Amino acid sequence: MANKEKLPEEDINLPYYHGALMNQDADQLLVNDGDYMIVMKMNPEINKMQLFLAVCLKKGIRRFEIKRTPTTAKFANKSAPNIGKLVDSLKSDIVDVKGERVILKRAIPKGKFQLMHKDVDFKKKLGSGAYGTVYRGRLTKSNQKIAVKKLDTEGNDEEMLAEMMKEARVMQLYDHPNIVKFYGYILDDIPYLLVLEYCNGGSVEDRLVERGAKLTTQTRITYTYHAACGIDYLHKKKCIHRDIAARNCLIHKEIVKIADFGMCRNTSVYKVDLNKPTNIRWLAPEVWEIGETRANTDIYAFAVMMWEFFEIPYDTPYSAWKGYVVKQKTRGGYRLPTPKGMPPEMEKIMQECWHVDPSQRPTATELKEKLEEAIAKGESSATTGLEKSKSQTSTKQQN
Ligand SMILES: Nc1ncnc2c1ncn2[C@@H]1O[C@H](COP(=O)(O)OP(=O)(O)O)[C@@H](O)[C@H]1O
Ligand SMILES: [Mg+2]
Repeated sequence: MANKEKLPEEDINLPYYHGALMNQDADQLLVNDGDYMIVMKMNPEINKMQLFLAVCLKKGIRRFEIKRTPTTAKFANKSAPNIGKLVDSLKSDIVDVKGERVILKRAIPKGKFQLMHKDVDFKKKLGSGAYGTVYRGRLTKSNQKIAVKKLDTEGNDEEMLAEMMKEARVMQLYDHPNIVKFYGYILDDIPYLLVLEYCNGGSVEDRLVERGAKLTTQTRITYTYHAACGIDYLHKKKCIHRDIAARNCLIHKEIVKIADFGMCRNTSVYKVDLNKPTNIRWLAPEVWEIGETRANTDIYAFAVMMWEFFEIPYDTPYSAWKGYVVKQKTRGGYRLPTPKGMPPEMEKIMQECWHVDPSQRPTATELKEKLEEAIAKGESSATTGLEKSKSQTSTKQQN
């Protein structure tokens, strides 16, 4: 089958067809002897999709190629008009392949996050980023609005798929009003997709650029508080985001949600490749020495993001400096000057968050509490603001 050629619908529609599900994800589902599924892989050398029967046998998980033509599906000494019929015949008759007995007992169906191309419709481009393009779309069944993050490679780049799946794996863990909700991933055919909650207000960075000085201090404080609630939730889930910045916070109906989990990891410490530094302007200076990111590096990035939230007009942090100068200066202890309109209690919190000693920075929970205190202590209008901020985020946080 050629790259662009579609796989037969009858194969794709099998409940146990998992498309390009990666081995590590498939292996978690194939647990008992005889568990099986069909997977697809792009073979970049021949630029073709290949289908495999993945099955859990006594000696471990095996993947056997199924030779598919438009009219036949072949495996070992068996042949059938399609994969469903081939699998049915294998279930009734054990086959030996290279000395191993292939016994099919239980078909593993797709999980709740595994959607299919036919479940979504998308057209309008919303943005683009690291590995793909983001579109606005709808779930075909419920007509619910969604955002679709599309992997721009034609399925022949295993590394990009791996990146996309890292994002999918962590996002599956979350359910919080200040985190962009994950609906699922689509691997049944190319292009591969992530399906996310649609945020109608775009990114906070775009909002800051567009509205400029018109955005009130109160709104900026509310945005800060929402983002802190999202990060507190992530850190309680033992995840570090690693790319906290105004461009990665989205707005939906005036609620700020943390987005872009491409760099997020479900671990307390994550080693970084210092030869390939990204987001230098948000990167805590000690990372250059210890080569590790952790929860307190997210807190440092949060401080830089607070600066972004209050600087009028919006500006990239240290916009006058090249990346290497930012690195040099921040390692030397330099920090951004406080934005003019930033209330002193916000300034204090920002400075605590970018403290030179990572252990002196507040935890996300402390940060959230400090923000609540600061808002409550502020002017009476700000107190109303806290009530507003709070009512917009859920109280039923799951830890
Ligand atoms: N759920 C969403 N709703 C609306 N717009 C989105 C959504 N996700 C992403 N976008 C848009 O696409 C851009 C890139 O998305 P992002 O997840 O940050 O990708 P990348 O990892 O490539 O930076 C965002 O800045 C935003 O404009
Ligand atoms: Mg991004």
